[in-house]
Amino acid sequence: MREVAVATQAAGILSDSREAAPLVEVEHLTKRFRQGRREIVALDDVSFAVYPGEIFGVMGLSGAGKSTLIRCINLLERPDAGRVTVAGQEMTRLTGRSLMQARRRIGMIFQHFALLSSRTVAGNVAFPLEIAGFPRPEIRRRVDELLELVGLSDRAAAYPSQLSGGQKQRVGIARALAPEPVLLLSDEATSALDPETTLSVLRLLQEINRRMGLTILMITHEMHVIREICHRVAVIDQGRLVEIGPVAQVFSRPQSEAGQRLLRAQLQEDVPADILNRPRDSSHRLFRLGFLGEVAHEPVVAEVVRTLPVMLNVLFGRIEQLGGVPWGRLVVEISGTPAAVEEARQYLKRRGVEVEEIRPVDQESAAVPSPARVEGGAA
Ligand SMILES: Nc1ncnc2c1ncn2[C@@H]1O[C@H](COP(=O)(O)OP(=O)(O)O)[C@@H](O)[C@H]1O
Ligand SMILES: [Mg+2]
Repeated sequence: MREVAVATQAAGILSDSREAAPLVEVEHLTKRFRQGRREIVALDDVSFAVYPGEIFGVMGLSGAGKSTLIRCINLLERPDAGRVTVAGQEMTRLTGRSLMQARRRIGMIFQHFALLSSRTVAGNVAFPLEIAGFPRPEIRRRVDELLELVGLSDRAAAYPSQLSGGQKQRVGIARALAPEPVLLLSDEATSALDPETTLSVLRLLQEINRRMGLTILMITHEMHVIREICHRVAVIDQGRLVEIGPVAQVFSRPQSEAGQRLLRAQLQEDVPADILNRPRDSSHRLFRLGFLGEVAHEPVVAEVVRTLPVMLNVLFGRIEQLGGVPWGRLVVEISGTPAAVEEARQYLKRRGVEVEEIRPVDQESAAVPSPARVEGGAA
């Protein structure tokens, strides 16, 4: 009980769900696969909870165990150990008919949509309702409503092959929502879409979450997907859950090595390599600055230049939203006497700015080759 209170507090943003019991509870989940003579531990003692109304993200590299996790939540895959509870029902205890019924309360969308090519858009959305034995007039009514919700009313008679990727995923979403699930699982649902379409599908999911209060668990290897719509995020690495927290917290100050690696990979795209690689010394230092929350709007950087004898050159800057919290990022070069540059660094830190020094790549790798770099070089 205490644990639950702490976790909901961490959710923070979702003030109305703070008192609620978890909708999804994953406890000590373990799943192993045998591949020839080798045993793969796809999930290793994973525990976390998702609260009603949350959009919860699970992020990790390819092979981390994300799909296995989602398949163990709806019991498409039976875990070797541990317990999964969804809306008060212990999934891991169910078999046969009762499992099928419980699964109906869990919608799912997929990377490659998994639509029936021989059925129209309306036919695809109607499919789960036909299986569940809904009366025809009700099926027709719900299909109409759902197609309206996802913006495809005018494509009801089209076949999947006549649709764009984004439209196909909208059909996938409508179909998943048809049986009125209590939980929507998304396995890389936007990974096959271009950036613009991805954004529109994410906005649709966000709207569905807001309007219907639907809880969404989404797994992805793409950080920007999580950043765009998730409230909380868990990082999974080699089958282990290594970090969990509000998106703003995890993305701005990841504690785990896997979280830091994911963040660094994203940040490095921001600054051209030639700038990163330019030689530096103690009177020309390059810093990556992160401003979370209110400080993002304060002119801290201007204060540095005004109060200290340094030059500050902004090489990159952006403010974005992290789970609803403003997150400002700057890459700056600070130059002056070594003492003044160091003083500027400390000043920024004191003002609550995240400060990370960027060293030229060769300098860094000459010191200690990091495992990530060795892997990257080999690939
Ligand atoms: N059915 C299976 N049989 C054998 N190994 C599997 C099976 N499904 C997944 N794995 C292995 O489990 C690990 C996690 O896979 P997966 O959950 O698909 O990762 P992700 O979705 O994060 O890319 C991988 O090493 C993968 O090869
Ligand atoms: Mg996967």
